[in-house]
Amino acid sequence: MKVLITGGAGFIGSHLAEKCLAEGHSVTILDDLSTGSLDNLTRAFQYEGRCQFVRGSVEDKALVQELVSQHERVYHLASVVGVKRVLAEPLTTILEGLRGTDHVLEAAEAAGIPTLVASTSEVYGRALEYLDPTGQGRLSEDSLLLLGSPARHRWIYAITKLAKEALAIAYYKQRGAPFVVVRFFNTVGPRQSPSYGMVIPNLVRAALEGHPLPVYGTGQQKRSFLHVKDAVEAIYGLLFTAEPWGEIFNVGNPHEISILALAERIRTLTGSSSPIELIPYEVSYGPGFEDMQRRTPDIQKIQNWLGWKPQYSLDDILQEVISYVTSHSSS
Ligand SMILES: NC(=O)c1ccc[n+]([C@@H]2O[C@H](COP(=O)([O-])OP(=O)(O)OC[C@H]3O[C@@H](n4cnc5c(N)ncnc54)[C@H](O)[C@@H]3O)[C@@H](O)[C@H]2O)c1
Repeated sequence: MKVLITGGAGFIGSHLAEKCLAEGHSVTILDDLSTGSLDNLTRAFQYEGRCQFVRGSVEDKALVQELVSQHERVYHLASVVGVKRVLAEPLTTILEGLRGTDHVLEAAEAAGIPTLVASTSEVYGRALEYLDPTGQGRLSEDSLLLLGSPARHRWIYAITKLAKEALAIAYYKQRGAPFVVVRFFNTVGPRQSPSYGMVIPNLVRAALEGHPLPVYGTGQQKRSFLHVKDAVEAIYGLLFTAEPWGEIFNVGNPHEISILALAERIRTLTGSSSPIELIPYEVSYGPGFEDMQRRTPDIQKIQNWLGWKPQYSLDDILQEVISYVTSHSSS
């Protein structure tokens, strides 16, 4: 099949491109290279004649219409990402996100092309800490969402992603469009850029370079991390082996760890003697920054649909990121 991946020069998109190519499909990548990079596509380009790159933005409606109509599956991953970039560019996050998503979905709906829209676990906001008195609960797709005010820029990303979800579901409900939404929980692995505040590449780089490992807040906040290869298997299955139109799926790993424990584990695995430095959120992200204490996925729904569950452990992820950062800093 012919597969279009918006944001395909990015971290998840480049791994997805390789998966599609390895399965025998041809792939077109539409990316403006704002956070992605052609280096990420080195392996994809080795599938000669089957991987095409188009530099452009999903904001370019004519280009999007032309490309979407030439393909049989669309993954819409293009997005402003990373807390730091969202805080610096809230308007771009909203306008580019909503316009670009509508261009993709309008074209895909007109041509009846199965399309997956990337959302985020950020849309759950602070639901677990306020609505789950046990401290053990997990977020399922029908959990209530508890976002902060848009006046706190941290929430702009989640609010925009939620609007993208609503748009995709509305196209399905009103016009029968074959669209599916995934909420990625922290997805990590080789190629993830440390530039926009992603925690694992940042901690690994600091440990390897002998700098203090920055941990924000108390470090007691917990997160769960999914290997990008697991994420790719999940989203490949959703568009190629199921017809889950109008559905929303969590894609994440329920195993959780505090950020402080994560930093300690990275120190151990890298053999680093760097200290861990606790940094108040305000120092890095400005006054009034709100974070959530836990964000743990319930993945029963996607297990039921695809039989999918994560195969890689946190240590597998950390070892691969350490090798990747090591090889890329010495070259
Ligand atoms: N990695 C995670 O943990 C995670 C978690 C939740 C959601 N997501 C979502 O998954 C998707 C992929 O994220 P990622 O981690 O691979 O990040 P990434 O930054 O590596 O990938 C995003 C890609 O989109 C491209 N892009 C941005 N704006 C564009 C535009 N207007 N037109 C065309 N291309 C554009 C960037 O250049 C980049 O290559 C995003 O939608 C992101 O919101 C990722």
